[in-house]
Amino acid sequence: MSRQPVATGTTVAQTIAADPLAPPRLPPAGREAALIPTPVGTVTRRAAAGDLDAVQDLHGRCSIASRAARYMAGKRELTWADWRHFTHPTKATTWLTSPADAPDRIVAMTNLVAHRADPSALDLGLLIEDGFQDQGLGTALARLALSHAKHRGCQRLTASTEADNRRMLAILRRLGATGWQCSGWEMDAHVLLDGSR
Ligand SMILES: CC(C)(COP(=O)(O)OP(=O)(O)OC[C@H]1O[C@@H](n2cnc3c(N)ncnc32)[C@H](O)[C@@H]1OP(=O)(O)O)[C@@H](O)C(=O)NCCC(=O)NCCS
Repeated sequence: MSRQPVATGTTVAQTIAADPLAPPRLPPAGREAALIPTPVGTVTRRAAAGDLDAVQDLHGRCSIASRAARYMAGKRELTWADWRHFTHPTKATTWLTSPADAPDRIVAMTNLVAHRADPSALDLGLLIEDGFQDQGLGTALARLALSHAKHRGCQRLTASTEADNRRMLAILRRLGATGWQCSGWEMDAHVLLDGSR
């Protein structure tokens, strides 16, 4: 399996020229965010509100099994409320990953959202298109999210996954997850970011 470290080199994408007479509109995908090189020839950037259509296309290309593994429910696509939640300016950070040569095609979504019960924690969610799985991308994106959470001063990164999701469990172990709790088919764990275990 090829593994590349997540570099933080930045290429600032084209900025949209502002037209003061134009009606307000959502920024199109990928035009204002820095690009982070990620494995499998991809680049990753922060999501913008206007990315929802491309994210729905990602959901459409993912297998039912992958979507079920992400949401632990039979979810076909996101609602507007989901997307507002994932792109909330203070409570969430979402990254989108595309092939470097096909920036409009989203192949992975990484979400870090404020934990409902613990304001010092952020919850990690990953969804990778099936053809891009098992090549180190999930590991790299999880590391990217972890380093962002640390940078924000977050104390815990939490994650929930199905108990038989071997890839996600492996990623969490690699990140140093602890506090494992199993309830039925769901496994919860957290990574302590202050260095304690
Ligand atoms: C889970 C997911 C994020 C993992 O990302 P990925 O890019 O496929 O995984 P990686 O290639 O980084 O591999 C992660 C680990 O799983 C291991 N792995 C890969 N395929 C595996 C398999 N079929 N069985 C067991 N382990 C496997 C890898 O060896 C690696 O472990 P290591 O670091 O100890 O070597 C991705 O598969 C995905 O999006 N799945 C659908 C949604 C989902 O399950 N989300 C997680 C819940 S939020």
